[in-house]
Amino acid sequence: MAYRSRHTPRQKSPKLRFVFLILLAIVFVIELFIHSQKISYFFRPVWDKPPAPFTRIPHYYAENVSMDHLCRLHGWSLRSQPRRIFDAIIFSNELDILDIRLRELYPYVSKFVILESNTTFTGIPKPQFFASNRARFAFAADKVIDGLFPGQVATPGSHRDPFVLESDQRKSMNKLLHHAGIMNGDILLMADTDEIPSPHTLKLLQWCDEIPPVMHLELKHYMYSFEFPVDYSSWRATANVYGPLTRYRHSRRTDVIFSDAGWHCSFCFRYISEFAFKMMAYSHADRVKKRDFLCHKRIQELICKGDDLYDMLPEEYSFQEMIKKMGSIPRSASAVHLPAYLIENAHKFRFLLPGGCMREPE
Ligand SMILES: *[C@@H]1O[C@H](CO)[C@@H](O)[C@H](O)[C@H]1NC(C)=O
Ligand SMILES: *[C@@H]1O[C@H](CO)[C@@H](O)[C@H](O)[C@H]1NC(C)=O
Repeated sequence: MAYRSRHTPRQKSPKLRFVFLILLAIVFVIELFIHSQKISYFFRPVWDKPPAPFTRIPHYYAENVSMDHLCRLHGWSLRSQPRRIFDAIIFSNELDILDIRLRELYPYVSKFVILESNTTFTGIPKPQFFASNRARFAFAADKVIDGLFPGQVATPGSHRDPFVLESDQRKSMNKLLHHAGIMNGDILLMADTDEIPSPHTLKLLQWCDEIPPVMHLELKHYMYSFEFPVDYSSWRATANVYGPLTRYRHSRRTDVIFSDAGWHCSFCFRYISEFAFKMMAYSHADRVKKRDFLCHKRIQELICKGDDLYDMLPEEYSFQEMIKKMGSIPRSASAVHLPAYLIENAHKFRFLLPGGCMREPE
């Protein structure tokens, strides 16, 4: 008290002002640390350049139009025999999406080649979900070749190079594809489980000659379910005409992309526990900063609102795009142009359809 009475607020001692500034600086540094990811993403348009844009191949389709006509609309010609299709899938824990994929593509695919690891990308041991759910996929057993990718358990302090991991995985997949009997001229699809090409895309790949040897597939991107369409930004999946130099990859290969070629449903899980598992296993596991990120109640609330599970800003290359994408994903009431098996079995997959955001806990 005595101290204060001797100084009016206007003439604070320089010492006090210094302490105040130091405190302010500390608070600022702590805030910066907590929100560093957000800040660096906010400034992404400044520090990062977008990759070269794709050249989009227009995609023509309507029900009951002949293959001959469809092929010719794309500048391709009709084959006398369909090509064989090999669907090479990296599987983690997307059991329901795998079910829809296998049911939807079964008539067009010769072999589903499924690679599953016994660790996550971040080096945590994981159950082999495909191997332990074989009964569920018995309907496709005659077309499934599956293999184990032996993962490496991360030890504290170790840091696995993601490029080494990708190249090991590629080798495993190439071996499995040989085992499945792939031959030059077959179509090879390279995709994650949740990147599902549409049946009419596969029919064009089967029946048309002169298609590009490698095409990216532009997939409509959904988050949590088909109730939350994000955009058409998904591009990693590819269709390849298999040749002596074809090697499995899941990254940028070429500049051409085939428009509107299917669906990419991210985090489209039935159970909250599967969300939590994927958040832990995801290669961006550094995003799981706070323990309460994995709290089931919080995850459920975010899913129903279409909000970001990681509380992140959209990863965009321009401020305009970023501002457009900030906040919740607008809800859609359309269940048109979705996989037929999903619509036929809507009662079994309510959680993937409009109005079905409430999940089961286990
Ligand atoms: C489908 O095509 C066939 C033969 O071109 C035609 O007879 C039939 O009416 C068409 N069906 C529909 C629903 O347009
Ligand atoms: C994964 O599988 C490989 C090959 O069977 C085995 O050597 C390794 O110990 C397994 N790792 C884990 C974490 O289970």
